Amino acid sequence: MRVVRTNAGTGNGGQQMPAHVIVGTQWGDEGKGKATDLLADDVQYVVRYQGGNNAGHTIVVGEQVLKLHLVPSGVLYPHVTPVIADGVVLDPGVLLEELDTLVGQGIDVSKLRISGNAHLIMPYHLELDRVTERWLGRQRLGTTKRGIGPTYADKAARVGLRVQDLYDMKIFRQKLDAVLREKNAILTRVYNRLPLKAADIETEYAVYAERLRPYIADTGSLLHEALERDETVLLEGAQGTLLDLDHGTYPFVTSSNPVAGGALTGTGLGPRHIDRVIGITKAYVTRVGSGPFPTELDDDTGERMVQVGGEFGTTTGRRRRVGWFDAVLARYAARVNGLTEHFLTKLDVLSAFPTLRVCHAYRLHDEEYEHFPPHQSIFHRARPVYTELDGWGEDIGDVRDFAALPKAAQAYVDAIEELSGVPIRYVSVGPGREQTLGRG
Ligand code: GDP
Ligand code: IMO
Ligand code: MG
Repeated sequence: MRVVRTNAGTGNGGQQMPAHVIVGTQWGDEGKGKATDLLADDVQYVVRYQGGNNAGHTIVVGEQVLKLHLVPSGVLYPHVTPVIADGVVLDPGVLLEELDTLVGQGIDVSKLRISGNAHLIMPYHLELDRVTERWLGRQRLGTTKRGIGPTYADKAARVGLRVQDLYDMKIFRQKLDAVLREKNAILTRVYNRLPLKAADIETEYAVYAERLRPYIADTGSLLHEALERDETVLLEGAQGTLLDLDHGTYPFVTSSNPVAGGALTGTGLGPRHIDRVIGITKAYVTRVGSGPFPTELDDDTGERMVQVGGEFGTTTGRRRRVGWFDAVLARYAARVNGLTEHFLTKLDVLSAFPTLRVCHAYRLHDEEYEHFPPHQSIFHRARPVYTELDGWGEDIGDVRDFAALPKAAQAYVDAIEELSGVPIRYVSVGPGREQTLGRG
């Protein structure tokens, strides 16, 4: 028997096998799209590892504005292979529309590769996402209604349909018939909705199957082989640490694992492959949908932050909730993800405020919490304890060198770095690629 020795199986003998993870450190919308696009300049693969088209990533290159939901943010570079990996949930109709839009904008999408293990979002998932939210009433999560939760629920219940099932329509129909019996019973008897027809779904998905065929690949092998060739892989998280199903503000979370650990289970790479974990962190905090938010601003300052920051969702257009920077959450994100560095975004938005606040701890009754509290009731009722910092009151969008920032802006970045305990290696002062300052 011939034993094939690979780096992946036998230890890398000190050789670099560089995969970097990009992860949102807050409740999403930190500017991951911009950061990924920028860092993709010198990598060969950009990989989405979890979530689905609940994500909305805006990329601005010169006059061109791209809004991506499922396609990885490296797609703009001809040298990058974008990959949708195993841990993603995929709505094929939405993906094809997104690809058509990109092609219409002159972007070549032919290198895209999609894992056969990714789970399919089905019409009944969309319907169930809508009706369950309605039934939850005041307890609703404020989901994006893209069918994400119901699809991951079926994956865990082992009744999901996967991308690979599209290429054996007999199996596809068998699985669909079995699962649709239950879904239709729930839709009609519990929620008083109309039943869905298996034949209609099969016809619709068979068309998707043909159009997606050229993109399907064994993405796990693809990535391992790339790493063995010493190519660089960028693993792009969607959502953010506090929306993580296990480590976020449950139940006000998404149904996947955006944290760095999710990049491994979502792709089939191992911990040894990761050499950098880059936390994308907004200079203040935003959140879409329901759930606790200790530093939230409901006043005029908050309204100004929404307007200056353009804080309206890329996917649903909803107004984002906003608040001051929260260092307790930043420390938690550093720990949960094993961050090696931060990419700080939207510093320019804070130019609009004469004084700034940073939350360094929470208080509840007589107790102060420097770390994320272990019980959700404490987190829900905790009040932020703030440090005040001077604003700088001038536009910084044209600054291209960290040392040229106003002293108060430098002090703000230094304070966040110190409070979160992780070096800030990039500072973003506008949506454009060129509006990014390197820092050490
Ligand atoms: P993502 O989901 O993490 O990729 O973030 P989104 O794209 O949903 O939201 C971030 C928004 O902020 C987008 O509209 C970006 O174009 C924009 N953006 C990113 N970085 C900056 C920045 O440094 N300054 C400003 N003003 N806007 C930024
Ligand atoms: P990006 O990748 C911000 C939020 C929803 C809701 C909760 C659950 O652009 O940062 P879901 O549809 O996932 O079941 O909704 O998660 N949410 C996001 N918030 N940015 C996102 O993605 C989000 N994806 C989901 O608003 O509160
Ligand atoms: Mg977004």
